[in-house]
Amino acid sequence: MSHAPESVLHVGGASPYDVVIGHHLAGHLPGMVGDAVRVAIICPDSLEHLVEEIVGPLAEPTPAVPERDITVLAGPDGEEAKSAEVANACWEALGEEGFTRSDVVVTLGGGATTDLGGFVAASWLRGVKVVHVPTTLLAMVDAAVGGKTGINTAAGKNLVGAFHEPAGVLCDLALLETLPTEELIAGLGEVVKCGFIADPEILRLVEENDPADLVPASPVLRELVERAVQVKIDVVVADLKEAGGSELTGAHPGREALNYGHTLAHAIERAEGYEIRHGEAVSIGCVFVAELAHRAAGLPAELVERHRTAFGRVGLPISYEGADFEDLLATMRVDKKSRGNQLRFIVLADVGRPIVLAGPSEEHLRAAFEAVTGSDADVDL
Ligand code: GLY
Repeated sequence: MSHAPESVLHVGGASPYDVVIGHHLAGHLPGMVGDAVRVAIICPDSLEHLVEEIVGPLAEPTPAVPERDITVLAGPDGEEAKSAEVANACWEALGEEGFTRSDVVVTLGGGATTDLGGFVAASWLRGVKVVHVPTTLLAMVDAAVGGKTGINTAAGKNLVGAFHEPAGVLCDLALLETLPTEELIAGLGEVVKCGFIADPEILRLVEENDPADLVPASPVLRELVERAVQVKIDVVVADLKEAGGSELTGAHPGREALNYGHTLAHAIERAEGYEIRHGEAVSIGCVFVAELAHRAAGLPAELVERHRTAFGRVGLPISYEGADFEDLLATMRVDKKSRGNQLRFIVLADVGRPIVLAGPSEEHLRAAFEAVTGSDADVDL
């Protein structure tokens, strides 16, 4: 199948870079890696078979680099990759390779690999270049863009990390061909979220296309990825370090807007022992904050229903049966987005108008939760 030529989305700011979106993009890697003599590819063991595809173009001799030294650092997958032990093993390997400031880390994997590899690159010699080649939809539209990197420690998830923007990102949709359908659907959770916080065209595309057609080869999926990445770019260019807006003035919350639906989502993920996919939890979390905004900030009932329709249409859960409200509330209170003891949520004033809702009443929180658990079926929208 022939595909439209790749699109290049430019990320401005102090460390500008390009996000290339299309099919079969490995040929772009040498340009992003530049004249680095050494390249370390960080990937999970399960994706080692994909390494060959990207090593090929990187190994091609150029006048500036007649021979490139390419090392593959394969390790654990998922959250297990994001440990101090795995980061340390990477640092040891870079030391053995004599990795210098002009050498480059390439990540190949999902969001955990991007976070780990980005952190290794941010910390080695106080920062070497990193290029991300995300292999999941979730990583393409979220983790790979915007420079957040980090690992988990006993104290919690993502508490150790750095902002380190990549030198380039390759969103190669052909890599999604072997992604399990449930993972693709979970990635759509972040895409639909971007529709609600910034780009109603995403919602129209989801509402008007057959969800069964949202496969890696489809032009509609590609447009959804391009639009979601553009939303992320716009937000991080305006507020890279999450300095935020002001809840007092109703200003745009900046990067925190990307956290739409995430406060309850993180609590659910934790309660479920991380057995639920992030995008699934985000879907439930977005319906919850829509219900909350309906009660606490006057969001019209039709927009609450639109959340259920859009997330539900792509196959994501829109209700939750699991942990108790009290347990989830306790977790939300220690979420890193809380300030002092006050709970903060990103809610919508309208589609494309995220605002901060600080300190909602427990009554509103409970009623919104009941509307999501279905235990308050008579709730009047
Ligand atoms: N994943 C949220 C952010 O990048 O800020």
